[in-house]
Amino acid sequence: MPSYKISWAAPKSALEEAYAALSDLFDPPADAVSLVKQDTIAEDDASIWSLEAYFQEHPDIDAVNKMVADHGGLGDGQLEELPDIDWVAHALEGLGVVRCGRFVLYGVHDTDKLPDEADDIAIRIDANQAFGTGHHPTTAGCLTLLDRFAGWAPKSVLDLGCGSAVLAIAAAKLWGRDILASDIDETSVAIARENVQLNHAEGQVSLLGAAGFDHPDIAAAAPFGFVFANILAGPLAVLAPDMAAHIAKNGRVMLAGMMAEQEAGVLAAYEKAGFRQLNRLNHETWPVLLLVRQ
Ligand SMILES: C[S@@+](CC[C@H](N)C(=O)[O-])C[C@H]1O[C@@H](n2cnc3c(N)ncnc32)[C@H](O)[C@@H]1O
Repeated sequence: MPSYKISWAAPKSALEEAYAALSDLFDPPADAVSLVKQDTIAEDDASIWSLEAYFQEHPDIDAVNKMVADHGGLGDGQLEELPDIDWVAHALEGLGVVRCGRFVLYGVHDTDKLPDEADDIAIRIDANQAFGTGHHPTTAGCLTLLDRFAGWAPKSVLDLGCGSAVLAIAAAKLWGRDILASDIDETSVAIARENVQLNHAEGQVSLLGAAGFDHPDIAAAAPFGFVFANILAGPLAVLAPDMAAHIAKNGRVMLAGMMAEQEAGVLAAYEKAGFRQLNRLNHETWPVLLLVRQ
């Protein structure tokens, strides 16, 4: 199946607002958006940068052009049909190191750019087909909120919808605990397994394929003291009663993947199932909730 790229070239400062808008606001979202320097010699302000948005389906070019005109005043982008290669991974290559609190996420291309702060927890996640390189606000939000819970290590932890396993690896490194991580998508589970090995966490993170809580190993490990669920609003709301059944009293669940306008509906489903809001990380599009089971 072909995919599509829309690109713009300009100094970095002229592209940043459109980059943020395409990453966070465009609906349906691009599969990947990248902002990369076209040459490596000039200083950032003197260089020409490329803003590239990738889509699996033919994008509505008029809607995209209107969005970038409204956010940063760019002219029309150039639409290209691309041959069938993994453009999502290509777009994420070299996107740079992401810092979320003490977590520092990097890909193989950025190994030499790692900062070296004493408290840093470095996690290598290469760009590929599993969600969770840290460049999406939901992943970054979960890591930022997790960073606040360094001194509090729950006994039994599940990363439900683990994608790349980035949250499971982060929690294993922060808390020094064994973590169960699951995903409905077998490709994600395979990539998560590679990431767990790359980060030397195979002794701590156990992976399995499962839809929701539907797996005997999940049932055996319950009740959980902490569950991460960065999925989407619909499945999050549907899973609320199962969350209550698998989380211990006073256990926590971190919810992400719902958009700001879906948050009230998801929260209502969890309140009905016996949860109370403890904390919330604000983001104009992708808030993160921390709830406790009463
Ligand atoms: C938005 S990604 C989050 C990945 C990663 N946890 C992160 O925070 O970056 C959501 C993941 O949940 C998985 N997923 C969606 N619905 C699921 C379900 N009902 N049960 C288990 N996994 C699910 C998807 O396959 C996908 O890998």
